Amino acid sequence: MENLSQYHETVPQSRQANIKALVGQAWAVESLELSLTDQDALKASISDKLKQQDAVLVAHYYVADVLQELADETGGCVADSLEMARFGFQHSANTVVVAGVRFMGETAKILSPEKRILMVKKQAECSLDLACPAAEFAAFCDANADRTVVVYANTSAAVKARADWVVTSSIALKVVSYLHSKGESILWAPDKYLGDYIQRETGADMLLWQGSCVVHEEFKADALMGLMKQHPTAKVLVHPESPKGVIDLADRVGSTSQIIAAAKELDAPKFIVATESGIFHKLKQAAPDKQFFEAPTAGEGATCESCAMCPWMKMNDLQCLDQVLSEGKDSEIVIPFEIRENARRSIQRMVEFGSKR
Ligand code: 13P
Ligand code: SF4
Repeated sequence: MENLSQYHETVPQSRQANIKALVGQAWAVESLELSLTDQDALKASISDKLKQQDAVLVAHYYVADVLQELADETGGCVADSLEMARFGFQHSANTVVVAGVRFMGETAKILSPEKRILMVKKQAECSLDLACPAAEFAAFCDANADRTVVVYANTSAAVKARADWVVTSSIALKVVSYLHSKGESILWAPDKYLGDYIQRETGADMLLWQGSCVVHEEFKADALMGLMKQHPTAKVLVHPESPKGVIDLADRVGSTSQIIAAAKELDAPKFIVATESGIFHKLKQAAPDKQFFEAPTAGEGATCESCAMCPWMKMNDLQCLDQVLSEGKDSEIVIPFEIRENARRSIQRMVEFGSKR
């Protein structure tokens, strides 16, 4: 297989440093600790504002438990990135408030341009998106014009606009298998681990961009084997943004919603889970009789930058949500028309493909 190392050996150091600095800035944003009474008052105020503004709250599994609860309690949804986009599109509300990271808000806007899309925290980035700037990506596509361009949903609207297909982790394998069966070779961006996993599973000819998720790339196979020895009856559930050694140890590899489904479905008393820790809220709800353990991120006693927590997902909090519903404007997602329309084609392709299968 042709390899990106000929083109772009790693994400350039300056960009890596920028991502690291942004991770630091995200962690530095402090959230006020709220008493339960204050929390309940804030939830009630947000609930009223959602109703008054004909707004619905759509949250990702990685945001704080309290935001997930509020989304459920107010008729919104908690979901993976594909389902969040579908839900916002299908819901009758005029305003969709996204608790997650910016690419999720952008995807909602692309699918529902007539709606007002607000982000709980507009500064919430994603390292995969940051690793793949649109201009460089366009040059990469131009240099490999014979390939079908498939990009992960964790990208900017401008990158999606340059793609033939957008996929999320819940549908990526199916789409690439389909394209491979038609004899197409693929240009994949930006997650090198997910791309490598899909390549191994499908045998497709894939040229990979070299981005990674700052959270998932910290899961460690050696430490995971140690934990598996301590819990021999546990099954291992892994998100495919994780490194190959970790994926190789998995009983099930899948998107966030597929991980939750596996925990319900598989007949095991214990699970070791390699994905962002916010998912444990829904895992415990989905399978209350089972026990869940976090997969190790950096070996015994070591420190790590994420420790299975996404710095940007954790920027979302109740106070910001309340403020956004009071002040709105600065949190609104706006995408230039041409970018939006081009990105819509490639997202729509995924949505239609998903609904037929
Ligand atoms: P899912 O599509 O599985 O929800 O993943 C989104 C994400 O950002 C994972 O890190
Ligand atoms: Fe991006 Fe990783 Fe955070 Fe998901 S967990 S939003 S891939 S940085």
